[in-house]
Amino acid sequence: MDAESFDKFLKINHLPKRARECSCPADYWASLAWEEREACGLNAATLEMGYKEYLVGNNTGTWMHVVRSLEILRGCDKDGVPERYDLRFLPGDVVCLVGPTGAGKSRLLADIECLAQRDTPTRRQILIDGKAPDPAKRFSGESGLVAQITQNMNFVMDLPVEDFLLMHAESRDLKDPENVVERVMRTAIGLAGEPFGPKTQITQLSGGQSRALMIADAAFLSPKPVVLIDEIENAGVDRVRALRLFVEKGKIVILSTHDPMLALWGARRLVIRNGAVCAVIEPDKNELALRVQLAELDAELANMRERLRRGERIGCPDTAKCTLM
Ligand SMILES: Nc1ncnc2c1ncn2[C@@H]1O[C@H](COP(=O)(O)OP(=O)(O)O)[C@@H](O)[C@H]1O
Ligand SMILES: [Mg+2]
Repeated sequence: MDAESFDKFLKINHLPKRARECSCPADYWASLAWEEREACGLNAATLEMGYKEYLVGNNTGTWMHVVRSLEILRGCDKDGVPERYDLRFLPGDVVCLVGPTGAGKSRLLADIECLAQRDTPTRRQILIDGKAPDPAKRFSGESGLVAQITQNMNFVMDLPVEDFLLMHAESRDLKDPENVVERVMRTAIGLAGEPFGPKTQITQLSGGQSRALMIADAAFLSPKPVVLIDEIENAGVDRVRALRLFVEKGKIVILSTHDPMLALWGARRLVIRNGAVCAVIEPDKNELALRVQLAELDAELANMRERLRRGERIGCPDTAKCTLM
């Protein structure tokens, strides 16, 4: 066993450092105190498998956890009536959840996040690659399958953007971290439309900038193959571009939204009512045409927003410049 790469693997997965020389993952496992083993949420076999996967991914320079499919097996609505659909998603799929407040959109996202095994109020079951996930993987947090992008990003520490991203890139052991960090920065600025520099402190970013940063970070620096987005509309982020980015990376994106442009952007949208998926809609010809119109409207709105921000008048191109008093 190559000690250096094993140590990197331990670091990335937040596992305790080696206290002594170890000949193989099982030997390392045996060297841990029992409370350390408890805290890992693994066993010798899952550790060994994880290390093998890591080595394979590391040799190819990418190590996104590869998921071939994500399935949601039907549960029950709030009255205990069975759902009508089992659902299956593949890499690159964008799936939207629509439905009134309280219908159960966030609950469905939470079922995916915790890889529910008929042990949540909905009784749904999530399968990864056709199988119930390994219980050890289910609770492994950082090394899990699912990334969440939420409305409120609370950064627990303050760092310049550049250091924050470098830390992520290094923890992923990428071949050329500086280059990747630059790409993430460029992408985030492109998504937010408001420039910021590598030295900007992350707590100083606007809502839109910090969400754009999280999106770019999840796309380039996270090995997690499933991305969940809970209602982040009007967030000052180029939403369609963000979705395209995830699709290009082969992620499965599931988002809840009231935003018509996003709702039409998914290849499917799930209508959620009374805690259940009550319909699955694929956009038809008319909706696809509408999608184009909505994108144009959206670009116009974004343009007005930007001109307002710059202190210009909007509505009349001739009076675009205001007089500075
Ligand atoms: N199938 C279900 N069975 C029981 N409770 C449910 C079910 N689906 C959702 N709920 C509960 O209903 C409440 C509202 O759901 P939530 O997902 O927050 O709605 P939304 O995000 O659509 O506004 C939550 O407390 C949630 O746990
Ligand atoms: Mg919700």
